[in-house]
Amino acid sequence: MGKVHLTGAGPGDIELLTIKALRVIKEADVIIYDRLANPDILQEAKNGCEFVYVGKEDGRHIVPQDDINEVIYQNALKHENVVRLKGGDPFVFGRGGEEALYLRDRGISFDVIPGITSAISAPAYAGIPVTHRGVSVSFRVVTGHESPNKKESQIPWETFKTDDTIVFLMGLHNLPKISKKLMEIGKPKNYPCAVISKGTTKEQSVVVGTLEDIVAKTKDVPTPALIVVGRVVELREQLQWFEGNE
Ligand SMILES: C[S@@+](CC[C@H](N)C(=O)[O-])C[C@H]1O[C@@H](n2cnc3c(N)ncnc32)[C@H](O)[C@@H]1O
Repeated sequence: MGKVHLTGAGPGDIELLTIKALRVIKEADVIIYDRLANPDILQEAKNGCEFVYVGKEDGRHIVPQDDINEVIYQNALKHENVVRLKGGDPFVFGRGGEEALYLRDRGISFDVIPGITSAISAPAYAGIPVTHRGVSVSFRVVTGHESPNKKESQIPWETFKTDDTIVFLMGLHNLPKISKKLMEIGKPKNYPCAVISKGTTKEQSVVVGTLEDIVAKTKDVPTPALIVVGRVVELREQLQWFEGNE
């Protein structure tokens, strides 16, 4: 039986891969990967390495998660070094925990190689620090997949009244509901927010707006994209460094 490395591929820029991730990729007999992992990373694999695509887009699995778990398990029975490569960090909305539990229950050894999550790095490449002295003392990474209209929401919307930064992943399709909900709990209409698409890649684009106008401004934004809500967005005006300098 082999070992599975649940490995973060980082957010897009291949140079944001960790040295440890690169090492296990070079040693892998098989790499099971997602759409969000930069495919250029696969070129680092050794000759003869197998590649298994189990695409994943905006929280929707093209291959159901149960089947992905089984694919990883079956590969661990056949190969010594199995890399499960996931966009960003495997434990940040990556279902890495579920995959680890599935393997553990079947006696397969695994380790976790954290990756640079898009939740922090895409804002950073957009010139938006998720915390900033005097502006925001904390940040939250929240699923945007759950509709704010859901009856028994697990998201504590009422606690979002402060100026702490909120990063919504998987939320572009719910942006009209998210922005409306934030205004309903008392955030001002002109409260700053931004949508970052394809963050850290050459195709990165950033739209800055307010809770009131962000939906109209982001009609055709390509995915993957995340939403940053907070006064820290205003710092982009001075800190924007990436676009145009890629
Ligand atoms: C299923 S979650 C996986 C998150 C990933 N594990 C991470 O740590 O970045 C997918 C969501 O992450 C966000 N995302 C991932 N890569 C991104 C990127 N390069 N730019 C902007 N958002 C990204 C989007 O909100 C997307 O819908």
